Amino acid sequence: MTFPPELIALLRGTVKPVALTGAGVSQESGLRTFRDAQVGLWAQYKPEDLASPEAFRRDPKLIWDWYAWRREAVKAVRPNAGHYALVEIEKLVPEFTLITQNVDGLHRMAGSNNVLELHGNIQRVRCSECYTFAETWDDDTGSVPRCKLCGGLLRPDVVWFGEALRREQLESAVEAARMCDAFFSIGTSGVVQPAASLAYAARNRGAVVVEINAEPTPLTVKANYAFQGKSGETLPELVKAVWNL
Ligand code: APR
Repeated sequence: MTFPPELIALLRGTVKPVALTGAGVSQESGLRTFRDAQVGLWAQYKPEDLASPEAFRRDPKLIWDWYAWRREAVKAVRPNAGHYALVEIEKLVPEFTLITQNVDGLHRMAGSNNVLELHGNIQRVRCSECYTFAETWDDDTGSVPRCKLCGGLLRPDVVWFGEALRREQLESAVEAARMCDAFFSIGTSGVVQPAASLAYAARNRGAVVVEINAEPTPLTVKANYAFQGKSGETLPELVKAVWNL
């Protein structure tokens, strides 16, 4: 892929970039996205049936098992070239913030340090009542494991539809987007709020907005630059073009 020289020059001078990532970044690791036709998780399941507090109240075991299945899928995969390209950016620029909607933990596994996991982390488990985190639990009882402190049902520490994001995380993400000089939106359909609005917050404050995505999104026509392609290919190419790596 070729990148416009003026973008390369601009990115070479960036000191405070932000990247927002979504499920597309982990697709090349072997994880399923949510909204891709046919292969996305939400093409097969309804979000409100599996990723909402109501669903958990209705049938906690179904939800626990679904997340246990996804947890195992995540354990079986490794970061890809897109994740590692973001680690390089963190090393190359003074202040880089990585905001992810992904709950798979692959950015940290790749080596990124300054990561805001807006939607939580699927490997963390907490009590649905008293919020205490559980390091271990008994999975062999045939029912949803319970909190050792209060007896409440355990659940994954992810943000479900209809739930608020953790306040400090969201505030840090908004602040980073408002203060950045370059904003990358990578592998996300950009339809889930509040994450989707971050690119616009950055753009309104004068940051250059660069999208890398396999297909067009609502952001594509609003971004300063949009590249259609796989993040595991396009991101390393961009990093190489900008920083000669
Ligand atoms: N490289 C780049 N983009 C890709 C790739 C790839 N290899 N593979 C797929 N994509 C694109 C798809 O075309 C799609 O536009 O990534 C995007 C993934 O979009 P979604 O499946 O909607 O995932 P995401 O944007 O992360 O969803 C946001 O929705 O259900 C919730 O909580 C869940 O965090 C998730 C949120």
